[in-house]
Amino acid sequence: MNAILRLRSGARRLKRIWDNLLAHLHDAHSFAQGSGLLSDRSASSKAAQVLKTAHRLEKGLALPNPRPGFGSGAAELLRVQLQQHFSASGADWVWKAGQDALVRRAHHARGVSAHTLSAPMSAREVQAAARGEFPALVGIRRSVRQFAPGPVPWGCLQRASELAAMSPSVCNRSGARVWVVTDPAQRERVLALQDGHQGFGDRASAVAIITVDTTVFHTVGERHQAWVDGGLFAMTYLYALHHQGLGTCCLNWCVTPATDRQFKRSIGLPPHEAVVMLVAIGRLPEQFTVAHSPRRPLSEVMRTLEGRV
Ligand SMILES: Cc1cc2nc3c(=O)[nH]c(=O)nc-3n(C[C@H](O)[C@H](O)[C@H](O)COP(=O)(O)O)c2cc1C
Repeated sequence: MNAILRLRSGARRLKRIWDNLLAHLHDAHSFAQGSGLLSDRSASSKAAQVLKTAHRLEKGLALPNPRPGFGSGAAELLRVQLQQHFSASGADWVWKAGQDALVRRAHHARGVSAHTLSAPMSAREVQAAARGEFPALVGIRRSVRQFAPGPVPWGCLQRASELAAMSPSVCNRSGARVWVVTDPAQRERVLALQDGHQGFGDRASAVAIITVDTTVFHTVGERHQAWVDGGLFAMTYLYALHHQGLGTCCLNWCVTPATDRQFKRSIGLPPHEAVVMLVAIGRLPEQFTVAHSPRRPLSEVMRTLEGRV
């Protein structure tokens, strides 16, 4: 009897391993087909390349000390991408975003101060809006890449984590975790393998690593749940920090499995936690600027399956 039970349990285990493998192969196949990984033929993939290059220039202008003449390679690339985009899609919002970035970058190359070319903000304006109605908080949250010196109060970080933990999660499994570092040496170690913080990360008084403990998931169907639950947690975390008058910038964790493993080993993160993103956190300077980042129009964002216009 025992042997039969063991056989059955072994067979169930093998089936789960097989299903998991198939699901990952399916994900890899869908990603390769849908994304621009193998080819940039789809219009939406090409448009995303334009936005990405334009953002490189806009972000450069919003750094504390943009290098004079920075971005000549990106500007060259953007010119080519824009020509192709214009032939395919005309002067739509993506084209305009790219043109605006090129013009601003050209002004900077001619000696105009970057601070007059990126979007101006002030701590007072942000703090007032952040304490108002929800749309005001959403409207004023921008990625901040210019931080004032001084520590971020530990209580604010605790409060933000407490509020983020109120985010929904699948079956209330509450897998999200946030690891916070404030010590400069630790911050350096945490940022060492991240590729999007250059020029401002070292001025963030705190860096958070948002992870999800994958031990809370059990089925093949839940293989992406960490990114969903972690993304929801991260959004609440950002709003909670901005609501308290702080500035944040998400930092991508788009890395290879080898880098991910190296990162976890180097800072002692448990291997079963999925890293969702890092967040640079700091105090807002009295006056600062943020990158222009135009948004996709509502007509493209909101759709219906019901045939309404
Ligand atoms: C998951 C994620 C990762 C990001 N990674 C970076 C990054 O590595 N470096 C950076 O400067 N900005 C990063 N950003 C910020 C985006 O560039 C920014 O959200 C976008 O341009 C929109 O601008 P806004 O946040 O000011 O509204 C990231 C944003 C998200 C959501």
